[in-house]
Amino acid sequence: MDKFRIIGGKRLEGRVLISGAKNAALPAMAAALLTPERIALRNVPRVRDIATMRSLLEELGVDSSVAHEDHGNRIEIEARRLLNPLAPYELVKQMRASVLVLGPLLARFGNAQVSLPGGCAIGARPINLHIQGLEKLGAKIRIEHGYVHAETTGLKGALFAFDTISVTGTENLMMAATLAEGETVLENAAREPEVVDLASLLNKMGASVGGAGTETIRIRGVTSLHSATHEIIPDRIEAATFAVAAAITRGCLLIERAEPSHLSAVIAKLSEAGARFTPSTPTTEESGHSSLRVEGTPSLRPADVTTSEYPGFPTDLQAQYMALMTQAEGSSVITETIFENRYLHALELMRMGADIRVEGRHATVRGRTRLTGAKVQASDLRASASLVLAGLAADGETLVDRVYHIDRGYERIEEKLSRLGASIRRISED
Ligand code: EPZ
Repeated sequence: MDKFRIIGGKRLEGRVLISGAKNAALPAMAAALLTPERIALRNVPRVRDIATMRSLLEELGVDSSVAHEDHGNRIEIEARRLLNPLAPYELVKQMRASVLVLGPLLARFGNAQVSLPGGCAIGARPINLHIQGLEKLGAKIRIEHGYVHAETTGLKGALFAFDTISVTGTENLMMAATLAEGETVLENAAREPEVVDLASLLNKMGASVGGAGTETIRIRGVTSLHSATHEIIPDRIEAATFAVAAAITRGCLLIERAEPSHLSAVIAKLSEAGARFTPSTPTTEESGHSSLRVEGTPSLRPADVTTSEYPGFPTDLQAQYMALMTQAEGSSVITETIFENRYLHALELMRMGADIRVEGRHATVRGRTRLTGAKVQASDLRASASLVLAGLAADGETLVDRVYHIDRGYERIEEKLSRLGASIRRISED
């Protein structure tokens, strides 16, 4: 298993290019199942989860090709026919987002067997809302031997209100509803930019989706969808992770191809902690893309944070923010409201010298503590990022083990960080 070897204490400076959003590319790849025609996706990040989704599509008998482009990969998918509508446990347990094929398979082919995802390091991760919503659209669903068996002779539009906001739940139902008969209304829908990006792709494919980005999404069913080309939005969590990297090393970064409008809550919170931001719009950028300039300051202020669904402070940045708060001059309280077990990184940070007390959904971080390099172990994608950030700020050498977690959602993060002046190296061990 690969490790990262980091020598802390370097100030990061320079320009970093943000990759396409993994959590927008994954539903977009699943959406290709809704049509026999070619779907071309651009700016797809070169990360492990995308490869896993390609393997899942291949398992279903769906061809896909990948080509290296100047920024990200271009992936083309043609779901002309299906070999078997089965998403196996071996793949689904690797990546919970595999559940995103359930809605499209059901809508296009009338049946699907998708393994239950099971839990992961951050929580139980149920899919009851996906199932309830598909049943509302007329699917017959039974759970047997760890698999969801779903079938329908034709989905019918319906009103479905989520009792908990679910990102992939919203995406699954939005995709299924595009080929249902009549209108579907999703209430208490997720408002994430990745949901909006998926709706934009679906509409390019001939669907009729309105209200994406608000809590009520209306989908008028059509009989078929057609080919489309779509550029994936920038990864807001990767951009936010580099903003924290600038703040924790008191550096100065120009984060390019980021979308500042997707980062309002993050910019507000990191500004409260003392970081300085200068967003720039496409007009001021010759590349035609937006960027964000972030400058760290010598002394960071503690700032409490509570994670919440978009447009609130993202749970996917909570671990990275905790690493930053260990360097603030004072105590801060972090409250995680989305997942029930998303503090595993706290234990590893404490081994580096952090003073953190976890009580239920709250973590109190007493800063500023001197972090010292240590051997630490990553447990999930964002916890890994948190340990890398702590290593950048720590005295001495940090060895982060199991970096396959970080490779799931960050494109060669060690190369991007090295180019900014960090001393970080991947140690490959078989
Ligand atoms: C998406 O996961 C993201 N993944 C996650 O990013 C992200 O942390 C999460 O949304 C929250 O923002 C992708 O988009 C591929 P949820 P998702 O359904 O959709 C409960 C990363 O780091 N719930 O919004 O699986 C659930 O237990 C990953 O890239 C139900 O109870 O999350 C959780 O408490 C990690 N029943 C809450 O809702 C359901 O049927 C939000 O989960 C579904 C969800």
